[in-house]
Order: sequence, then C-alpha cells, then structure tokens
Amino acid sequence: MTSLTPKFPHLLHGGDYNPDQWLDRPDILEQDIALMKEAHINCVSLAIFAWAKLEPQEGVYQLDWLEEIIQNLYENGIYTVLATPSGAKPRWMSEKYPEIRRVNAAGQRELSGGRHNHCYTSPVYREKVRAINTVLAQRFAKHPGVILWHLSNEYGGECRCELCQAAFREWLKKKYGSLEALNKQWWTDFWSQTFNSWEEIHAPAPRNAWGNAEPVHGLSLDWKRFVTDQVADFIRAERDAVKAADPSVPVTANLMEDYYFYNYFKFKDVLDVVSWDAYPQWKGTEEDVDTAVSFALWHDVMRSLKKQPFLLMESVPSATNWAPVSRLKRPGMHLAASMQAVAHGSDSVQYFQLRKSRGASEKFHGAVIDHCGHSDTREFRDVEQVGRRLRQLDEAVCGSEVKPDVALVFDMENRWAVENAAGPRNCGIHYAEDVRAHYRALWRMGVPVDIVDEECEIKGYKLVIAPMLYLLRAGFAQKLAEFVKEGGTLIGTYHTGIVNENDLCHLGGWPGEGLGEVFGVWHEATDGLYDGEGNCILLDGKSYPVSELCALIHARGAQVLGTYGQDFYQGEPALTVNAYGTGKAYYLAARAGADFYRDFYRGLTEELGCKRALPADPPEGVEACLREKDGEKYVFLQNFSGEAQSVPLPEGCVDMASGQPISVAELAAYDGMAIQRSEG
Ligand code: GLA
Ligand code: ZN
Repeated sequence: MTSLTPKFPHLLHGGDYNPDQWLDRPDILEQDIALMKEAHINCVSLAIFAWAKLEPQEGVYQLDWLEEIIQNLYENGIYTVLATPSGAKPRWMSEKYPEIRRVNAAGQRELSGGRHNHCYTSPVYREKVRAINTVLAQRFAKHPGVILWHLSNEYGGECRCELCQAAFREWLKKKYGSLEALNKQWWTDFWSQTFNSWEEIHAPAPRNAWGNAEPVHGLSLDWKRFVTDQVADFIRAERDAVKAADPSVPVTANLMEDYYFYNYFKFKDVLDVVSWDAYPQWKGTEEDVDTAVSFALWHDVMRSLKKQPFLLMESVPSATNWAPVSRLKRPGMHLAASMQAVAHGSDSVQYFQLRKSRGASEKFHGAVIDHCGHSDTREFRDVEQVGRRLRQLDEAVCGSEVKPDVALVFDMENRWAVENAAGPRNCGIHYAEDVRAHYRALWRMGVPVDIVDEECEIKGYKLVIAPMLYLLRAGFAQKLAEFVKEGGTLIGTYHTGIVNENDLCHLGGWPGEGLGEVFGVWHEATDGLYDGEGNCILLDGKSYPVSELCALIHARGAQVLGTYGQDFYQGEPALTVNAYGTGKAYYLAARAGADFYRDFYRGLTEELGCKRALPADPPEGVEACLREKDGEKYVFLQNFSGEAQSVPLPEGCVDMASGQPISVAELAAYDGMAIQRSEG
C-alpha cells in the first residue's frame, strides 16, 4: 500500500476551510495561514460550499480567487483537498431550474435554499455539476498542491420527483426483465397488489395507502437499492468529470456514521479513497466507553470498505453545535478520539472546520480557530498536540494496514430487510445492536476485526461472524459453505437464512440455501420475548441470560453444546457446533448478552490463534489496536475509561512519542499512546 494521496504521501492534518466566506478580509486569510502552521496543519479541504462564488452567474466562472488561495497555501506547505461544489446549489440555479430541487416524501417540491437537497437524477443538475467540475479540474488538477478530490459533501437523502420515479422503473425493468417476474418476486398476489403496468409502481412514501409500511416488502427493498445505485451513478459522473483532466488525482467522498439510507459497500468501487465524518458525542461519563465501541466499529467499516487506510475527513476539536447539548471535550479526549481513528486505519485527522464561520447556522460549531482569532485556546492547543503526534508517527504509520483474522458480517441490505419485515419482534429487532454486541467482545480483547457485507470476499479469515443473516444474496450462502469446508470457523445465529434477496421465504426449512447442512440444524420457529423477559443458555455449568429472540432448533447432525434453561423449550438446543468439511459452524439460537459473547469469543479466538494487539486484554475501557507495515507492528492504546490506567506491555516495545523502550504504558484519563512492538 502506497499513500492515499501520492502527491503528498503523509498523514494528513487539516480540515474544511472556507476562505470564500472571508474574501474581503485578506488580513484574516493571512492570519489563518500563520495559525495553521502553528498547529502543524498540512492540508485543507477547500471550496466545499463555494459554488455561488465560483459561478456567480450562469456560465460565468470566477476561479482566480481560488487559485490565489491554493497557491498561497502551497507555498506555505499546506496542501489542498479540492471539493466539487455540488453539495449546495446556488440560489440562482434552483430558482431558474425547479427540477433540480428535491421532491420530498410528502410529494412536495422543496423551495430554494439549504444544502444536500438536490435531485440526483435531474439531467439539468447533472449537466451543471459536470460543467463546474470540468472547469475546476482543468484549472487545478495538475496544480502540485492539489492532492485529492473531495466529491460534493455527505451525499445523503432521497428524491421522489417524477424523474427519479421514472429512473426507478427503468432500474426495475433492468433487474426483472418483465412485470411477471417482478410480480412473482414481490409476491403481489397477496392482497391483490399485482402491477399491470410499470407506471403503476411508485416509491414507498407516507402518502401511499400504507404509508412507509409498504406491504410489498420487495418494493421497499428495491427502492432503497435503487437510491443507492442512483447516488453511486451520480458520484461516478462527478468522478469522471474531474478525472478527465488528470486521472492520477484520487477521489474521495466523505461518508457518514451509521448512514441508514445508502449501502456504502456499493460505493467502494466508485471511490479511490474512503473518508468519513465522525462526531462522537463524548460526555465525560461512563457512557464514553459505549461511544468508543460504536466509533471503533464505524472506523472499521470505513477501513473495510476498500480494505485500505481511510481518511477521517471531519471531526470537531471541541463540541458540535447540533446535538441537544454542546458538551466540550474533557481534557485529553481530543487526543484519544483522534488517535482512535488513526488506530483503526485512518491516515488523517481532519476537522470541521479550520476557521469558525462568523454567521449562519454553524457560528457556534467548534473549529480550530475561534472567533477570538488567536491560538491561546483549549481547542487550538488540543489540535496542535494532535498535529505534533501525527508528525511523530508519520513515517512509520502512514500507509500501514490493519489485517485482522476475524470478519464480522454487517450487511445493509440485510438490515433494511430485517427491520422492514413484520415479525418476529416489531418492538425492536435490534440487528445493528446485535452486530455491535459481537463486535464489542472482540474490541474488549484488542482483537482486530474487518467488517464485511455479503458481496465481500471472506477467504483468508480464520473466523467469520454472521449475526442474524436473515436475507441471503449474491451467492453468499455458497461462499460461507466453501469457507467452512476449507477449514474456516463460522458463527451464525437465530434468524439466519430466512429469505432470498427479494425477501421471499426459503421453502424446505431454515436456514435456507444449504446453510442447514453447514450448521447441521433445522430452525423450526422463533419465540419473540417481550422487553424485560428472558431465558438462559446452560453451557459448561454456567447459565447465560438470553433475551428478545429465541429460536427453536433441532440438531440435524450438529453437536449440542448448550441448551435452554427455561420455558416449554427447556433442554432444547441453544448453542450447537457442526463439523463441515475441515471447518466448524456454530449456531447460536438466541440473543445472548455481553458475558456470553465475552467467554465464547475468548475461547474461540484463543483456540484459533486470532491475531490481537497485545497478548493480554487491556484494562476495561482501554482499547488496543494494531496496524502493520513492512513487518513492523504498531499498537495504539486509547483510554476511554475516565481514569488513569496502566497497561503492561510485552518485551520489545518502544513509545513512539519519546523513542524510549517501555514495559508499562501509563495512560492518564483519555490519553492515547502509540507503541512500536517488535516481538511477539
Ligand atoms: C457535517 C458537514 C459539515 C458540517 C458538519 C458540522 O459533517 O459535512 O459541513 O456541517 O457536519 O458538524
Ligand atoms: Zn428527483
């Protein structure tokens, strides 16, 4: 792996910079550069929302101001991540061309204004974007200071205009070929929902007869898939426009945390570099450990999309202004949170934003340079500290990889389908939460994990964990069977192998598509439990609580390891293992709790010899991560526990900040430390 940004192959430290808001204040622009240098900032993301300045009137482009800024920054050692401006369309454009404005779920076309609200299908908008991107690329792609394209900003949302609906129908025609095939896969004979013409198909929306609870589940699922594909197509068009001028400059798009409306795995081949915006809401309480687990998982998702380092494109030095409460980070937390991103594979720490906007909706959002205009602030000092740390790590860590033995399946299409299905637990099916519960047990031990979806390759892992794999698609069942046959260890759970990719139930017994043989079980039915109810799994003389969903299964060749402790299915199998080929497949029949996952994964990762950051678990609330490059190992420790912690280290460790050998890492509350580990 070389650098994500070949023109400037270093860890990036910088962020969104909006000088277009300050063009009448050259004194401020000059001051900004001096302050950036003081904070060890080496890159800025420019012109993200500058369309109105770049094209003040239709077809009239004004780029001289931008060139001056790019050049000036470059001469000061600051590189540019240059944005395409499609995230916010100028008012003149949306007034003149109403079709570029989105139609919302209530069927109304929005008024002008705002951002992130353009139609992805509109040929007019696509043409306007292509034109400005081309002009920008022709002028700047070859500038030595321009290292990366930042396509638009946080692509998000949906449009239900007639252009989008028509594109959806075309997408369906391509997928199904005929209405007959579509009706069959969508099971439309149910409640007389048969479609007789393509024009009868509409996106699910509250004004439809059933509102968002569209009874034709295949339609809901396909609409979401279409939206993802349409956005991917829009991104591709943006990419092609800038690459036409110079294909060597990579492109990225800044993704979001837990973004439910798109399947980000479909973007992986469109982007050269994955980047994302992480805004954990740290509270300075015990809850911070949960927050750290969530963000660890999302950093891992972002790295896993392309299985290469990613960029932390936005984060906040102090506090956001959009959460219910703008809580300042406790001392140290900025370092711990920033290093968490790097520890999980980020080659940058970038911020929103460098200079705080004087007016409008983000005037109170944290920034590197506050309204006071000098460097004597907490947030500036915190940023400077991170900048210093990144410089120390740059040569060793930039481009290093995370190479786990464990893959955890977290599939967005499965998630949409699980959550849309009526039953077996409409008051909370908790797919994402269950994925996180499995993840947390591995995080606790410092075992690195890749996150995969059903289209990813799983060969080469020792352990694949696939919780609640309700919907099977893209030949994934065959991949899993192959994986186990060839010696892999697979964990499956209740609610697996229930439907095909269009949400039609598998006939002939669950789990379907051959997974019944792999797990050696037949899943007959699922008992949904009310909140507060529970059962337990009896295993190795211990009783582990389970809740919410309990599958009633029958061993069909599998060995029963654990049984239910209560209710009419007391004594029935609750945990099984099946030898299949040269591997093993475990089936966990009920939703377990943290203690089960902890014991289970401890035993399993030890038995399989799964790679971990340190030989022993770090203390509670401290995470231990591992990056590798050229045979070297870099261990990152972040302390989210809120108290000082000592972490014993194996032989041969060096503190990368001081260059000194170290045998115990002493971490203050919210401290972070990077260690080079030469042995073991
Ligand atoms: C998002 C956007 C930024 C800014 C921040 C504020 O991440 O991309 O433009 O609005 O939120 O947190
Ligand atoms: Zn539209």
